Amino acid sequence: MANSPLRLLLTRRWPEAAESRLRGLCDVTANAQDQQLTTAEWRAAITQFDIICPTVSDRIAPDVFSVPGARVRLLANFGVGVDHINVPAAKAAGIAVTNTPGVLTEATADLALTLILMTSRRAGEGERELRAANWTGWRPTHLMGQELAGKVLGLVGFGRIAQASASRARAFGLTIAYHGRRRADCKTEESFDAEWYESLERMATDVDILSLHCPGGEATRHLIDAQVLSLMKPTAILINTARGTVVDEAALAKALSEHRIWAAGLDVFEAEPAVSPELMLLDNAVLLPHLGSATIETRTRMGLCAASNVEAFLNGAELPDRVA
Ligand code: DGY
Repeated sequence: MANSPLRLLLTRRWPEAAESRLRGLCDVTANAQDQQLTTAEWRAAITQFDIICPTVSDRIAPDVFSVPGARVRLLANFGVGVDHINVPAAKAAGIAVTNTPGVLTEATADLALTLILMTSRRAGEGERELRAANWTGWRPTHLMGQELAGKVLGLVGFGRIAQASASRARAFGLTIAYHGRRRADCKTEESFDAEWYESLERMATDVDILSLHCPGGEATRHLIDAQVLSLMKPTAILINTARGTVVDEAALAKALSEHRIWAAGLDVFEAEPAVSPELMLLDNAVLLPHLGSATIETRTRMGLCAASNVEAFLNGAELPDRVA
C-alpha cells in the first residue's frame, strides 16, 4: 500500500501560485477563515499535521510543541522573522524551522522609504486634512515639512534590508550611518560611504532619521526606549519596519505628543494588530498595518520560497533556509 501524503496546514491563506505549488506536493489544508488560530487550534494542529506553515501573525504558546501526540516535524514559516516561534523549544521537540530570507528585501526597503517620505513631508496629515474637507487652499506656511537632502540616516542593523534602504536613501541625498552588532567590512562601508557607530546612543544623538532594521525577540526588546528617544534631536524622525517590540511604544507616544522628536513612521507594533490609542491620536505618527513585504511579487516569492523548503523536507534533502 502506498504511503499516504504528508498533511500540511497553512495557518493563513497564501497567494494562489504558492498554495498551488504546495498542493502539488502534499495534502494541504488551508485555514478557510484566514484568521489567527487560537491556542486550542494550535494544540490540535500540532497533533494532526506533519508540516505547519505559520506567519508572523501566529501567536504560538511556548509549550505547544510538547503537547502529547505531537506529529508536526516542520514549521515552514511564511516570512523572514521568526520571533513569533520559540525556536529553541521547536528544536528541542525535534521540529525543523525554516524562513524566507532575501525575497522581501526590496519591498521592505521601499516601505522604509515610503515612511521616511511620508513623515518628513507630513503626507498623512495632508491627506487626512484634505479628505476631511479642511483644506482651505495653498499658503506659504501650510504643512511645512523637512527636506531629506543633506540629512543623515542612521540605520540600526546593517543587513540586507538596511542596505537596500541605504541605497534608496542615498538617491534622496541622505548620508548613511549605521550601528550593528558587527562592523561591516571596508568594501561594504565604502560602497555606502557609511559611518559606523559602536554606540547606539551616540548615533541616536547625531542622526536626523533613525531607521530600525534589526530582528525582534528578547535581545532587542525596547532597544529604543525613553532614554534613547531623549537623545534624539527635536527634528528627528524614527522609522520602524522591523518589529514593534524593538520600540517602547508608550515612551514613543509620549515623546511624540510632547514634540520631543519630530515624527515617527511605524509599520509594526508591540501588540499587533492592536495599536496604542495614544499613537492613534497623534498627527506626527504615520501608522501602517505591517505592509513591509506586501507586494504581489514579494508575497508570491515568499510563498514559493517556503514551498521550496517544504519540498526539500519531503525529499529528505537539506533545508535551504533552515533556522533550526
Ligand atoms: C517578515 O517576513 O518577517 C515580515 O515582517 C513580514 O512582512
